[in-house]
Amino acid sequence: MVKVNPHYAEVSENYMFLDVVKRARAFTEKNPGVKILKLAIGNTTEPLVPSVVAAMHASVDKLAARESYTGYGDEQGNTDLRQAVATWYGARGVTLDASEVFISDGAKPDCANIVSIFSDESIVAIQDPVYPVYRDANTIGGRRIVYMAATEANGFVPALPSEHADIIFLCSPNNPTGAVMTREQLQAFVDYALANKSVIIFDAAYSEYIRDANIPRSIYEIPRAVECAIEIQSFSKAAGFTGVRLGWTIVPQALATEDAAAGALNKYWHRRQSTMFNGASNIAQEGGLAALSPQGQKETHEQVDYYMENARVIREGLTKAGFTVFGGESAPYIWLKCPAGLSSWQFFDQILEKAHVVTTPGSGFGGNGEGYMRVSAFGHREDIEEAVRSIAANLKAV
Ligand code: MLT
Repeated sequence: MVKVNPHYAEVSENYMFLDVVKRARAFTEKNPGVKILKLAIGNTTEPLVPSVVAAMHASVDKLAARESYTGYGDEQGNTDLRQAVATWYGARGVTLDASEVFISDGAKPDCANIVSIFSDESIVAIQDPVYPVYRDANTIGGRRIVYMAATEANGFVPALPSEHADIIFLCSPNNPTGAVMTREQLQAFVDYALANKSVIIFDAAYSEYIRDANIPRSIYEIPRAVECAIEIQSFSKAAGFTGVRLGWTIVPQALATEDAAAGALNKYWHRRQSTMFNGASNIAQEGGLAALSPQGQKETHEQVDYYMENARVIREGLTKAGFTVFGGESAPYIWLKCPAGLSSWQFFDQILEKAHVVTTPGSGFGGNGEGYMRVSAFGHREDIEEAVRSIAANLKAV
């Protein structure tokens, strides 16, 4: 008799953001005509930048002609794009080879799938609160999880795992708290990984939001990180590709484990991707290549600045209204403390019912997120301003 994977019983019925959408939809059904402002899921709202649009149009034209049509691309991603990614790292002082770059259809699937190159027995450390993908994917995979607390007391940057961990997920700038890890804090994790023969999976999807020049934008800015870390990146938040789908994963040739010599893990990930993934859309890859060009970088940085101005409006507006907020200085997420001891879902309901704003309850990201809300800076400026005004006018901060 076939049996289902029993670990599905260990995760909540819905992916967390779906619960938020359902509650918002129920409110709209009860209150037709009331406009709600969505500051929940980190979904980009501004159009693709001109150089990306031009490159994607040209890519469609290429596909439209027999002479220039292409089918499947290189299995690891287009060579030009992989080289452009390596050059992009080079500009920030990190030397990587194009053979270490794997183009993906976004960071989320790679965050979930990368652990497949490691033993199922691996103990996985994740922070609490955490981007739910690391937690749910590893729970469904039946792996043992060790939690690293990220609380107000430690500035939402977790201490090293308190018990042995084989794989450590880190995300800086952090989703959901908006905290960033300093060079010293990252160095401590790299030292731990080298000493314990562990591997760090570094999710750098929000690196372009860093405003403090002293904060590393890649784990590979830390000496010897290439020996113990995989980095996952995304065009979603940096270039508005949330619906286009494109990202990359770096599996360094120098990465080694106790039972795998340097180069072996790169080969395993290549084997996994060429077997179970057929490459990102060639139109998206042409767009990604344009996004990494000097002009594309200029245009996408302006777009990131726009969202960071939204973050400032939220942070300063809510602070002025008397709320306690964290994050949002080098990240597009603001971590708002619920007033008066309200739980995350209680405050979620109040913000929705009184201010008509949808946010994300911190408890959905883990036990330590209880009592907090995540407010996303992705939105049209006028909606962000209206949402902040509405929260300030309609909700008590104490
Ligand atoms: C979020 O809101 O946490 C992100 O948009 C989710 C994602 O990037 O997958």
